[in-house]
Amino acid sequence: MKKKLTFLGIETSCDETSAAIVQLDKNNNPKVLSNIISSQIKKHEKFGGVVPELAARSHLENIDFVIRESLRKSKTDLITVDGIAATAGPGLIVSLHVGLNIGKSIASSLNKPFVAINHLEGHALSPGLEKKINFPYLLLLISGGHSQFLIVEDVGTYHQLGTTIDDAVGEAFDKTAKILGLKYPGGPNLEKFAESGDDKYFKLPQPIINRGGCNLSLAGLKTAVLRESKNIKGKIKLKKNLAASFQFTINEILKKKTLIAMKQFNEKVGEKNSDFVVAGGVAANKVIRDNLKKICRSNNFNPSFPDFQFCGDNAAMIAWAGIQRFKKNKTDSFETPARSRWPLDLTAPFMKGPGLKLL
Ligand SMILES: Nc1ncnc2c1ncn2[C@@H]1O[C@H](COP(=O)(O)OP(=O)(O)OP(=O)(O)O)[C@@H](O)[C@H]1O
Ligand SMILES: [Mg+2]
Repeated sequence: MKKKLTFLGIETSCDETSAAIVQLDKNNNPKVLSNIISSQIKKHEKFGGVVPELAARSHLENIDFVIRESLRKSKTDLITVDGIAATAGPGLIVSLHVGLNIGKSIASSLNKPFVAINHLEGHALSPGLEKKINFPYLLLLISGGHSQFLIVEDVGTYHQLGTTIDDAVGEAFDKTAKILGLKYPGGPNLEKFAESGDDKYFKLPQPIINRGGCNLSLAGLKTAVLRESKNIKGKIKLKKNLAASFQFTINEILKKKTLIAMKQFNEKVGEKNSDFVVAGGVAANKVIRDNLKKICRSNNFNPSFPDFQFCGDNAAMIAWAGIQRFKKNKTDSFETPARSRWPLDLTAPFMKGPGLKLL
């Protein structure tokens, strides 16, 4: 009988220490045997954001336990795993080093294949943990550090259609939540807080909505929230209205930019009821999910979202990316460095900073 392929995945790019065991069953379907996530939210909460040195120290304290737990829960041991995949970037260098180095050490001491994973590729392929996604597909990656539209041609082959020229969507949620006095991490707290707010109460700007193709800009929106927040003087109902109006405006921006990205995708790939994958931490937002599902229905795309447990940072998506790269003989040497910046499409123009021109 054909042996099942089992991978250990390790993720420490930001403030989640995670290890997972993912196995390909005999029909080539992935099965998550364990996915242990130790979140550092409590440690960073009082600073209102992630403190890199604190994050790295916490990863060092937790990684050993997290890996052991992933093995115990999956009833696996290191001798029987077929390979190790660890996130090598992008992310906080001091945090990345912890998981990357322990991954390399395990692989080298046991003479196992090692795969260095781009964290964004982990997000990009994550819905495949539960159902088959067909290449090529349109990807909207919306996380704490990135917001991009990409054509995913195959594992390892990405073509960027658009990106944010300033804040990422998750970052805009976090900053807006902070302005409204909500706790870190802002995204999920703002979604909850906005539930009973009037989402049409404030008319907020939609920067570069009629230019720049499917590139995004959110910094002006956040500044507008800051301005409005100064006028409402802590009135809770108005604060809820502002949160809801912010979320509504993000949805309007995503709607218009997704339509442009879908058109560009169809022009490049052909119109054929393709998959539209939304991944990254913000993909957990139910209002955004519903909005994007509606757009898919009226534009002939099949929407796919990762299960909630695979939206934020997790090692199951890293092990899964590792398995897929390993199957394509894409393994890496133990010299592979950690990288703070690592775009999926290396040919895409850098879209930040002075001198940027948008059509
Ligand atoms: N329900 C939600 N609504 C809006 N935003 C959310 C929700 N849940 C999580 N987020 C946001 O998702 C982000 C975290 O996602 P993720 O862990 O993928 O980001 P990251 O790993 O820090 O960044 P990147 O993946 O770009 O390196 C945070 O900005 C968080 O506020
Ligand atoms: Mg992430």
